[in-house]
Amino acid sequence: MNIVAIRGAITTENTKEAMLEASQELLEAILTANQIDKKDIIQITFTCTKDLDAVYPAVAARNLGVTEAALMCMQEMYVKGSLEKCIRIAVLCQSEALVQQTVCHQYLKGAKKLRPDLGRFTLAIDGPAGAGKSTIAKCLAQNLRCTYIDTGAMYRTVGLFCIQNNIDYTNEDAVNSVLSQIGIDIIYEDNAQKIYLNGVDVSTAIRTQEVAAAASKVATYKEVREALVDMQRKLAATKSVVMDGRDIGTVVLPQATLKIFLTASAEERANRRLLEYEAKGMEVAYDVLLKEIQERDDQDANREVSPLKKADDGIEIDTTSLSIEEIIERIAHLLQERL
Ligand code: DC
Repeated sequence: MNIVAIRGAITTENTKEAMLEASQELLEAILTANQIDKKDIIQITFTCTKDLDAVYPAVAARNLGVTEAALMCMQEMYVKGSLEKCIRIAVLCQSEALVQQTVCHQYLKGAKKLRPDLGRFTLAIDGPAGAGKSTIAKCLAQNLRCTYIDTGAMYRTVGLFCIQNNIDYTNEDAVNSVLSQIGIDIIYEDNAQKIYLNGVDVSTAIRTQEVAAAASKVATYKEVREALVDMQRKLAATKSVVMDGRDIGTVVLPQATLKIFLTASAEERANRRLLEYEAKGMEVAYDVLLKEIQERDDQDANREVSPLKKADDGIEIDTTSLSIEEIIERIAHLLQERL
């Protein structure tokens, strides 16, 4: 027999009936989802937020026939801004079938937001260069405790390979012929995406204007896109992700839970890029950046394969005069509605 611990939470009103009903629903959900017999429960700890005081939730467990297990009710530590009227549960039990990695935690009603990573979702963020995609996607992934996938970095890595190996990246056949030599690995270190090209960390090397221009060109090639889209889908297949790029909502993840299309005026985006380069100690003229952004917009939006465009069911957000916090809040809210 293995000993496993299963967590859950649910929101409720502060009446005896509502609290007992919610506690029962939560406990039954845990038992059913994990195929646990009541007699295998060793201990249950319930906590309530300080605004719930109508009844002890353990009464619901006893009513359900959990008679042998040790039950405890406590008050959840109060943290400013935390979810209100919430009952939490930790069930310790023995099981032949379960191991800790396979238990199914249950977060119900308003408590779903406590563990968004358990309800799998995919959030697609598309838009032109400099619209704020990566900053916003990174923050959202951190807040939602899920994986951030920067697909532009993959196209940049193909571009970098061409530059490093003197492959004419404007020649589609030449790029196609070396595709099999390009090994891309995405690794997560301290929650940040690192990208490796044939075993070498190129996360910084891909962030140059030269590589951006090469990426924009190779991203127009069908074979390059097919190879990278396949990789991107595999990365998103088993976990919740925030993925940013140009074709995530339209091609890579057409079933995404939420599709956002971020825009901003070309002038505003050039300004943002200028600040980014300045912060890195790189000197670039505003006019050069503006021209490059306009050229990349043109190339990304007018290419034949998977051009940059808003998905029919995508939601457009113009970020020109919004703060990062405002945009994040708006997207998180929209995602919450979908979940
Ligand atoms: O977002 P970025 O600047 O790192 O992207 C580099 C280039 O790759 C950009 O010009 C467009 C292209 N790209 C694409 O075509 N599809 C994606 N999903 C991501 C990026």
